[in-house]
Amino acid sequence: MILLTGGTGYIGSHTAVKLIEQNEDIIILDNLSNSKAEVIDSIETITGKRPKFYQTDLLDIDGLEQIFKENKIDCVIHFAGLKAVGESVEKPLLYFNNNITGTIKLLMTMQKYNCKKIIFSSSATVYGTTQVMPLTENSPLGVTNPYGRTKLVIEEMLNDLHVADKEFGIVLLRYFNPIGAHKSGLIGENPNGIPNNLMPYICKVAKCELPQLNVFGNDYDTVDGTGVRDYIHVEDLAVGHVLSYNRIKTNNGIYTYNLGTGNGYSVLQVIKAFEKSNDVKINYKIAPRRAGDVATVYASTKKAEEEIGFKAQYGIEEMCRDSWNFAKTTKSYNTK
Ligand code: NAD
Ligand code: UFG
Repeated sequence: MILLTGGTGYIGSHTAVKLIEQNEDIIILDNLSNSKAEVIDSIETITGKRPKFYQTDLLDIDGLEQIFKENKIDCVIHFAGLKAVGESVEKPLLYFNNNITGTIKLLMTMQKYNCKKIIFSSSATVYGTTQVMPLTENSPLGVTNPYGRTKLVIEEMLNDLHVADKEFGIVLLRYFNPIGAHKSGLIGENPNGIPNNLMPYICKVAKCELPQLNVFGNDYDTVDGTGVRDYIHVEDLAVGHVLSYNRIKTNNGIYTYNLGTGNGYSVLQVIKAFEKSNDVKINYKIAPRRAGDVATVYASTKKAEEEIGFKAQYGIEEMCRDSWNFAKTTKSYNTK
């Protein structure tokens, strides 16, 4: 049995569907702070199977214990966490408590119930800012905000745990920029309020809920001056978790993998791909650079390909098509 913390969230829900399709038994835990209980209905509609769901907070150790007592959990895929960079700068303690303390409570409960396999949602943000591209898993680490610090601290905690107990099987997955949605249009990313990230913002402009996209800077040293990122379809990301699970199902050890496509696209290239694949116009204007942004980020995908056979299948136009297919029919929350 696999426990997905944060399993009603964006990446967790897509991974839940993939695991059910591979005939794995799963359970979902989420406190619904950034997702809706109806996601469980959508997972059932897509797969024909309804996963057991616990509305539990990671900080509630009794609640965690109950889940481990009632179910024989062999592996945890740990998605749950707060993820807004700007909010983390304003409220660092909220992030340290939710993400780091929450993970410690999870790991203590896992240890108590002899569950020694975990896949952790890390982020390319752990690589810091001044880097040679592509980023390999050995590129220097460094963080620039409290959110990134929670990811780095948790990676380090998991390394220490493996030093102390070699029976642990651990995968640290460093995601690049997940976009896209399930083909059904039933699950996807639906942030509350005004989005911080590019693709949800583009979708809200396409829906005429926001007047125009601000393109943050056009004077970077890139193909057209706008920022370049490694966008990856959330469906590919979900497959990456299934492959990671296969890696540790029967093996101990700690493994770190980048999950990206290895290709970078600029903001203007993403806008063009979105317009082309969806036949809609995106109003945008060039705005000043956003603090903390870098020109270019993309992954080396070699290690994940060689060790777990991971290779992204979807291109940028499919990512744009599936993002829009979900967003255009989905109710928005609190766009101010
Ligand atoms: P998401 O917000 O959609 O999903 C996270 C889920 O965790 C939410 O459903 C939320 O309700 C839940 N949660 C948060 N704190 C909790 C707690 N204390 N107890 C129980 N549940 C809690 O985010 P996502 O995009 O699916 O991201 C999943 C993971 O991947 C996160 O850890 C995030 O930091 C990481 N990540 C995301 C991205 C990205 O761009 N989406 C990039 C790199 C890493
Ligand atoms: N951008 C705009 N306008 C917007 C939003 C974004 O021009 O309204 C630009 C950014 O300047 C950047 C690109 O679009 O060049 C992508 O920005 P996102 O905010 O979508 O993504 P980031 O690469 O900044 O950050 C994301 C996650 C982080 C994670 C990081 C690395 O938000 O949590 O990827 O994986 F750490």
